[in-house]
Amino acid sequence: MIDFDTVQSYIGFNKFKKEPMEKYDFLVLGSGIAGLSAAIEASIAGKVLIISKDESKESSTEYAQGGIAAAMNDEDKVSFHFRDTLVAGDGLCNPDAVHILVGEGPQYIHRLIDWGTKFDKEKTRLVFTREAAHSHKRVLHAGGDSTGKEIVRALLAKVSSIKNITIRQFVFAIGLLNDKNGRIIGASYLDERSQKVGKVYANAVILATGGAGRVYSDTTNPELATGDGMAAAALAGAELQDMEFVQFHPTVLLAPGAPRFLLTEAIRGEGGILKNINGERFMPEYDERAELAPRDVVSRSILLELKKTNAKHVFLDLSGITSVDVRERFPQVYQNCLVYNLDLKKDLIPVTPAAHYYIGGVKADINGKTSLEGLFAAGEVSCTGVHGANRLASNSLLEGLVFGTRAGRSALDYVLAHPDVNDKSEQDYNTLTRKISPEEALKMKEEVQRLMWEKVGVLRTPDKMNRAVEYFREKYDEFVSLNGSRISTETRNIFIVGFFTAFASLQRKESRGTHYREDYSQKNEERIHSRYCLNDLF
Ligand code: FAD
Ligand code: SIN
Repeated sequence: MIDFDTVQSYIGFNKFKKEPMEKYDFLVLGSGIAGLSAAIEASIAGKVLIISKDESKESSTEYAQGGIAAAMNDEDKVSFHFRDTLVAGDGLCNPDAVHILVGEGPQYIHRLIDWGTKFDKEKTRLVFTREAAHSHKRVLHAGGDSTGKEIVRALLAKVSSIKNITIRQFVFAIGLLNDKNGRIIGASYLDERSQKVGKVYANAVILATGGAGRVYSDTTNPELATGDGMAAAALAGAELQDMEFVQFHPTVLLAPGAPRFLLTEAIRGEGGILKNINGERFMPEYDERAELAPRDVVSRSILLELKKTNAKHVFLDLSGITSVDVRERFPQVYQNCLVYNLDLKKDLIPVTPAAHYYIGGVKADINGKTSLEGLFAAGEVSCTGVHGANRLASNSLLEGLVFGTRAGRSALDYVLAHPDVNDKSEQDYNTLTRKISPEEALKMKEEVQRLMWEKVGVLRTPDKMNRAVEYFREKYDEFVSLNGSRISTETRNIFIVGFFTAFASLQRKESRGTHYREDYSQKNEERIHSRYCLNDLF
């Protein structure tokens, strides 16, 4: 086994100084809604270190627009939310997990409100909006379309009031550490500000590193969404579940020079409609629910319409919205469009689908336990089966809140029941290392991103998926040995996550939820989750 010092000199980390060894009761990787919720819960019983690779507020959570779903409206019921989630999940939801999500959700939202989250209200009453595939108005929002930002603000304020929690920013987790029995006992990291590498030990590790939209060239996700937690867990031997299910959001801005900025589904919830390049409404031809059909249906319909009209985008038209003032209801989207000379109130807004949410992830039970002892996972990095084959809009923030808290509690129970970590005969998973320049790493990263968009995108064919799997097998050694800097490690990570996605997509011989293949356009009778370890992909 190669020890850490040897590893450092191999991978070019020897230019960095080492931090002294550190030990906590709980190590939480990630400071989005899942990580912060887990940390708050675990801190009841011990010292918690949260690390995040950017500023602590930077996360997908921060960018969440539409809102957080919970049956708290007078006309709504938990049972309706349960049913809508199962219908969207297309037969593959884990009903126990859904039951917990929709049942426990409202109580955690009340707690968020107690901690200072200011959801939008009319006078003293909370207001709820409707999004696609929801039978009732049940989506709470804040600052119009800045829901995530407000939740992060409130959670970070709560965290800063807890003595037991330390939060460290710009600390990039490289890999997980285990003891000789396979228990996960910490993580190796690069502190980007001090340029030091180090290892931190903990009695329990909670992965809350978010999703992996950056596996694709076209995505709504922030730059940090490179699937680091999924890849680190896979390299440590964990099972990943349902990795073929990637949700593509239908309405993402496509304007010259603009990043793929999301136009929230709530716009269609308020009455926005889709038109083709000729200005004709087309969704009713594809689905009777029209613009409020589930996201996979709308995304596929848009792509078919693009083919039919030989166009690069369709339009989102908000001119018919009368129930709200568009500028007040969607201030963030309004301002962002204005930067590209598009006035949400009058102009047709060019949109196209882009990768948005990883439904699959590190297999976890309803308490966040993964297949590796000592490792817990919550939020987008994990897969409890709560979203089945397709996630209902605005259920993801709720998932982070509910299952983040549960993972924190279950890590706490685990630590109380298990002896302290004392065996330091760990191995970390960065023993194969190859140093390349940041430019080269970026080139390799973009190659994978383009491949995934072209071969494992919204509409999948066996030929394309096979080519992607061949590529991943051929290039495996070249990519998996990458390390030595954040960009190299992220490139390795998106490669690993892409490999799982391509492989699992090829294996699933049916169309279900977000996974649509042209050669098997129907669902199978069997309702199976896919579960693979890294070794299974060869
Ligand atoms: P994140 O919020 O992504 O947090 C991940 C954390 O992990 C970050 O702190 C990051 O720094 C850290 N991290 C990652 N890798 C490392 C590493 N190697 N080392 C150290 N730290 C690391 N969902 C909804 O329910 N409603 C919405 O309205 C909604 N709108 C959305 C809009 C956009 C534009 C996007 C991108 C997503 C949206 N989603 C929405 C989805 C939802 O925001 C995410 O699924 C959810 O916030 C994920 O939370 P999380 O805590 O699991 O991860
Ligand atoms: C959106 O606002 O459309 C995103 C909601 C979500 O991803 O759940």
